[in-house]
Amino acid sequence: MLASGVGSNLQALIDDLFCGPRIALVVSDRPKAHALDRARDVGIETAVLEFGSFPDREAFSAAIVDLLRTREITHVALAGFMRVLSPVFIEAFRGRILNLHPSLLPAFPGASAVQDALDWGAKVTGVTVHLVEEELDGGPIVLQEAIPILRYDDWPTLEARINDLEHRLFRVAVRAMVEDRIEVHGRRAMIKE
Ligand code: GRF
Repeated sequence: MLASGVGSNLQALIDDLFCGPRIALVVSDRPKAHALDRARDVGIETAVLEFGSFPDREAFSAAIVDLLRTREITHVALAGFMRVLSPVFIEAFRGRILNLHPSLLPAFPGASAVQDALDWGAKVTGVTVHLVEEELDGGPIVLQEAIPILRYDDWPTLEARINDLEHRLFRVAVRAMVEDRIEVHGRRAMIKE
């Protein structure tokens, strides 16, 4: 699992009876990410690779690939990982990388999706879990669910509901990926029951 921040989605996976025991490694680009504490608390191996220690995105991504290969890691879940990975990473794990995004993609891509939906005055937003491909926030959508934006919503209230939904969807999607139940036809991805 790759995470840069609080790690509430990591926690949701840790607490899941299927996913929890299968998390081999948590990688962060930020040494102080709370996600790392959550992993350490339950004895999951952690690693920090700081972006600034590498000459460029290619080298950074290649270093993560190398690390994952030494641990014989087969699948990757990104939750709040704030670095864009280069094609070398995508190629190494193609079809086996999931990302979580707090909007209904393709609406509101990028790093401030919750606020962007509020600022736009959207009446509905949501959560997207998608396979990672070269185009940023552009891979086939595995799961997606809408949330209404209420009259008095601000970032904290909306973010809290989005987070709850993320935790639920991410567990389902990660399990399906690990069990090889995600079927992709062109842009359309489906979970086989
Ligand atoms: C989530 O909202 C995710 O959609 C976004 O970053 C946040 C990560 O939350 N990309 P957490 O670190 O898992 O709590």
